[in-house]
Amino acid sequence: MTLPFNPLVGAVNTPPIAEAQEWIRGRSFPADKELLDLAQAVPSYAPAESLMHHLAGAAHAPATSVYSDILGTPELRTALARHLEVGYEASVDAENIAITSGCNQAYCVAVSALAGPGDEVIVPVPYYFNHVMWLQMQGIKPVYLPFDAESPDRLPLERIQELITTRTRAMVLVSPCNPTGAEFAAAEIEAVHDRLSRLGITLIIDETYKDFRATIGPPHTLMADGAHTRDGLVQLFSFSKAYSMTGYRVGAIACSSRLLVEVQKILDCIAICPPRISQEAAIFALAHLDGWRDGKARLMEERMKALRQGFAHSSLSYRLISSGAYFAYVRHPFPGTPAVQVARRLADREHILCLPGSFFGPDQEDYLRLAFANVESQRVEELVERLVGSQVNK
Ligand SMILES: Cc1ncc(COP(=O)(O)O)c(C=O)c1O
Repeated sequence: MTLPFNPLVGAVNTPPIAEAQEWIRGRSFPADKELLDLAQAVPSYAPAESLMHHLAGAAHAPATSVYSDILGTPELRTALARHLEVGYEASVDAENIAITSGCNQAYCVAVSALAGPGDEVIVPVPYYFNHVMWLQMQGIKPVYLPFDAESPDRLPLERIQELITTRTRAMVLVSPCNPTGAEFAAAEIEAVHDRLSRLGITLIIDETYKDFRATIGPPHTLMADGAHTRDGLVQLFSFSKAYSMTGYRVGAIACSSRLLVEVQKILDCIAICPPRISQEAAIFALAHLDGWRDGKARLMEERMKALRQGFAHSSLSYRLISSGAYFAYVRHPFPGTPAVQVARRLADREHILCLPGSFFGPDQEDYLRLAFANVESQRVEELVERLVGSQVNK
């Protein structure tokens, strides 16, 4: 007998990274053409040695094996508040911070606290797929802001305005963006927030990649203006990328204490608290790893520069549309061919695993996302050679 499941979940696509990994499952690759895995945004390096050492000791402390407060330990909430104060030149209170089991969870609980079935959330295309998957599972309608490949780093205020209805509860922004790497200018982020908040709509800004920005100084003045203490702004953060601790699962929300009351109810049900030992890792990272983190950000910058140079190769017909943080968004040279087909062919023939644009929203068949954070600068030349090779092997 086939039992009925939740149709809202049933209608959602398979997790994209898992789908791409299926393409190479069980395959082995020759030493002269190893796999170049550009699919998942995972740093290619281990966490800081000092962090791992600290955790080994922390595991012996009885406190690390029990639940913490639902919103995280006071120590970590305070440490993150200080961290945000420095980065955003703002005044931030621990009362406005919740620690979560990763930034994905932060996003999910924030959305669920803000919107319900039948409500709408504006999502710029191309989007981070988990954001839309969660909306769909909740019966919330994603309303797409179409992609403009000529200006991937712009936020067209009037077009956003046109998408607003009486059911719009929020707009989600990822800056720097996954999948394009584009960084939105402070003035544009502020203008969007200003317009939305006048209409009672919340801007959810996911700043998972804030430490990998090309510009220095605060990404915007919203927190300096205290917007995170009022309804209308939700700022999300992840420890995963900055400190190379994707498996530890620590993220955070900064928002009004009114919204945190609602968030706390959801977090209590789904996680009770973020992993306690991982919170120790985050406290250590904030206290000791500024230099380490900045060094890794420079490494990513070098990889991005190498990639940009590689794409200037005269025989290459793949076009770099946008790049930054961990990502390059590329137009492939096979118009009319579905992006999944192009990506699968790259995996099969060139041993390059990357994600098709179609995983990131409508009208993205011409694009591929390359998560170059995984590939050392020395291998970019090889990547470009293989891409050139794929043009011939059409
Ligand atoms: C934009 C964005 N938000 C959130 C996440 C997930 O972060 P976490 O590991 O903290 O859940 C990712 C991971 O790729 C991401 O790209």
